Amino acid sequence: MDSFDLTIRNGTVATATETSRCDLGIRGGKIAAMAERLPAGQRDIDAAGRYVLPGGIDSHCHIEQLSGMGIMSADDFYSGTVSAAFGGTTTIIPFAAQHRGTSVTATVADYHERARAKAVIDYGFHLIIGEPTEKIMNEELPAAIKGGITSFKVYMTYPKWKLEDYQLLEVLNVAQREGALVMVHAENDDMIRWIAKRLIERGHGAPKFHGVAHDALAEAEATNRIIMLSRLLSVPVLIVHVSSPEATNTIRAAQTLGARIYAETCPQYLVLTAEDMDQPGVEGAKWCCSPPLRDKAAQEAIWAGLANGTFQTYSSDHAPYKFDETAKIPRGEQTTFKEMANGVPGIEMRLPILFSEGVLKGRLSLNQFVALGATNHARMYGLYPRKGTIAVGSDADLAIWNPEIEKRIDYSMMHDAVGYTPYEGHLYKGWPEIVTSRGRIVVEDGQLKVERGSGQFIQRGVPGPVAAATTVDGPARKLRKLIHG
Ligand code: URP
Ligand code: ZN
Ligand code: ZN
Repeated sequence: MDSFDLTIRNGTVATATETSRCDLGIRGGKIAAMAERLPAGQRDIDAAGRYVLPGGIDSHCHIEQLSGMGIMSADDFYSGTVSAAFGGTTTIIPFAAQHRGTSVTATVADYHERARAKAVIDYGFHLIIGEPTEKIMNEELPAAIKGGITSFKVYMTYPKWKLEDYQLLEVLNVAQREGALVMVHAENDDMIRWIAKRLIERGHGAPKFHGVAHDALAEAEATNRIIMLSRLLSVPVLIVHVSSPEATNTIRAAQTLGARIYAETCPQYLVLTAEDMDQPGVEGAKWCCSPPLRDKAAQEAIWAGLANGTFQTYSSDHAPYKFDETAKIPRGEQTTFKEMANGVPGIEMRLPILFSEGVLKGRLSLNQFVALGATNHARMYGLYPRKGTIAVGSDADLAIWNPEIEKRIDYSMMHDAVGYTPYEGHLYKGWPEIVTSRGRIVVEDGQLKVERGSGQFIQRGVPGPVAAATTVDGPARKLRKLIHG
């Protein structure tokens, strides 16, 4: 037997379903052997006292992307992927964003070009659909799907991206026909605009009023509406960045009925609250994201949703905007919450927060941590079993976690290009020490070990379900027959 390029021995290996004491042998970038005892390879890592876990998959992040408000994110594909890797993530799926008046084909080519020479870990793209014209729906989306971009994001808010219900149905229909998954930003645009106008007129433009304008009922209403549209056609949807108990309960109720509704949440909704936005001047803009941070009761509801399976994926929604006049505060101290770039950075903090506050505090098992941070993303977005698990034949994308290391967060520890972290001063325990991507050591001893551009685009397959769902699609089946013959 040829020797291994790399062995990782004496560690505790966990997947989404199992935990065992196991050695890993890696050859040609793949996991070649798993056994209780393996001989040392050319390079041998002693993982005693460590957890050896699948590298994380972050399926919601905004990298080198122009936002719906026309603001460029601070991270490019180099800083964004380096930061992800230091946080134990080995695959990202950011967005290629189609803005109105531009073609999907040109958009996709542009994002490939940006990522190719910079990414240090593997990546795919989702497509944001800003304008579902007939040509895009019938020609360009099918071509993008054939090219391995098998998921779309649509918005129910933001003036430049918001789709009407009719358009949402058209997108769902194409997704069903072509085999793609639709991700939805669910907030009721009219409710938010109506409240915001009145707040601004009364001089309430400070960041904390962002949370008032984006009422939890606006999130719940849109969540309920997209669920009904999804059920009408029996097309699964994944509701992203869920923040409120109201939306969580709405999703849970639909899942209980058997509807194929999936959901994602993010670190900011677990450990930050609306009080963080209440800072002097415009400082609170650093904590403005949409949907917004809520209260302690909402945090508990989101934790419960992670533990009870309402949420299948846990992503960063890393939306890195500098705290300056190019992004967060375009009019300096005069900027109102309506003018601020929405979003918080978190690609590097995503998994350490879940590990520390979820696993070590007993809210989640280690296997749930793996499922929520990696495996379910791979299954849902057509990467499984190449990514998202530890199995013979899978890519050797791994993160070796030391559960004893404790760090107080200081922005100087971060590897992004944003300039601040909303988690400044927080204390988290359990950090990844060594990270590998296709058997290459990416991070070790706090150092980046790979070249810019060494990450690869991963052509994704057909999205799959996470758990067998019974369906309530009887009426939808009849409707499909009538419509499609
Ligand atoms: O506030 C957020 N989440 N900004 C990023 C864009 C989005 O809607 O995900
Ligand atoms: Zn969104
Ligand atoms: Zn986002």
